Amino acid sequence: MHLSNLAMSVGQSATLRLNELANNLKSEGKDIIHLGGGEPEADIPGGAYEKAVEKLKTRRVRYTPTSGIKTLKEKIRSYTRDNYGVEPALQNIVVSSGAKQSIYNFLTAVVNPGDQVVFPAPYWVSYTEMVKLVHGQPVVVKPAKGLLCDIGDLESHITSNTRAVMLNTPNNPSGLMYGEDFIKKLVGICEYRGIYLMMDDIYNKLVFDGVKCPSAFEYSQKSLDESVIVSINGVSKTFSMTGFRIGWSVASQAVTQAMTRIQAQITSCPSELSQEAAVGALEEGDSFTRKMVEDLQGKRDVMAEELGKFKKVRFEKPQGTFYGFPDFSEYEKDSVKLSGRILEKTGVVTVPGKEFGLEGHLRISYCGKKQDIVEGVKRIRKLLDE
Ligand SMILES: Cc1ncc(COP(=O)(O)O)c(C=O)c1O
Repeated sequence: MHLSNLAMSVGQSATLRLNELANNLKSEGKDIIHLGGGEPEADIPGGAYEKAVEKLKTRRVRYTPTSGIKTLKEKIRSYTRDNYGVEPALQNIVVSSGAKQSIYNFLTAVVNPGDQVVFPAPYWVSYTEMVKLVHGQPVVVKPAKGLLCDIGDLESHITSNTRAVMLNTPNNPSGLMYGEDFIKKLVGICEYRGIYLMMDDIYNKLVFDGVKCPSAFEYSQKSLDESVIVSINGVSKTFSMTGFRIGWSVASQAVTQAMTRIQAQITSCPSELSQEAAVGALEEGDSFTRKMVEDLQGKRDVMAEELGKFKKVRFEKPQGTFYGFPDFSEYEKDSVKLSGRILEKTGVVTVPGKEFGLEGHLRISYCGKKQDIVEGVKRIRKLLDE
């Protein structure tokens, strides 16, 4: 059967594959602890539930304007103003079917075949494949040491063929955050060179220890309509609404219009029901997120304590998200092998670091139940240390 070269070149999403595997093993009655997940366990905000039910009761769920309903875009405008230091017009916003679609729309809107898109490792698993889907060339910058790149390293990978830099902070999988100085310099470099800076802000509110994640917009010398910054966000993580598939972008009108034209030909618009639910979530706002951050911070500490008991694991404590990225290379350098052995021998699901562009690490999620985090990490320690 004929399949396109593009289809053949794109890898399967490792995290979605592992989710499926964990569910299949569980349904076969195996004792599985899933530390590979990417969604919080909290119920959705009450406001999201109410709005969705209200909409369903009308028995009219229809197409909406391509870039999203006005009430949601107004909420996104306020959310962006309150959290990111810039107040977009409604014409600067496109609502999409998940932040994933927003990123894809952005890449489709700005990348020509062969253009380079630069991003640091460890990176979110989809970045490389999405760049390939738009016939671009992913350029990965590996940190010289630790899990964060320095700005000089990143700049040295930018060439005349670079169209965009993508940065996810706090980061999936490391949970670490790039500091103010790095963001400020990165904004300066991208503005000076006229290349896009896509900030993947999806975990930007899930930050611990009372710290605030710096926003690129705060360091921009330009108005939003002249800006090279494109901020990606959504309700999946911050409001525990992964299944609603609502994300959005804030960017200049020129980029926003291009992204809207692309979306119009692909999904027409995001689901009206989900958009209404997102309005309810954003109305509820910080009170919901604060509780989740408190809960996740407690789980982060539990995971850090358990990982601290290993003889040879190196671990940088996450500053946000719900992932950690411990270094197991003193036990086994091949992360796929290690993750497979852990699953086979202990029933614990982890994600190999290789999927995120850094060998020797495993991504361990702490978005599940505390007792699973303790038991899961303990099982791995028993296997490797005893
Ligand atoms: C770094 C990062 N960006 C974007 C997304 C996509 O989020 P959404 O569920 O809104 O498509 C994810 C989801 O795991 C993520 O980890």
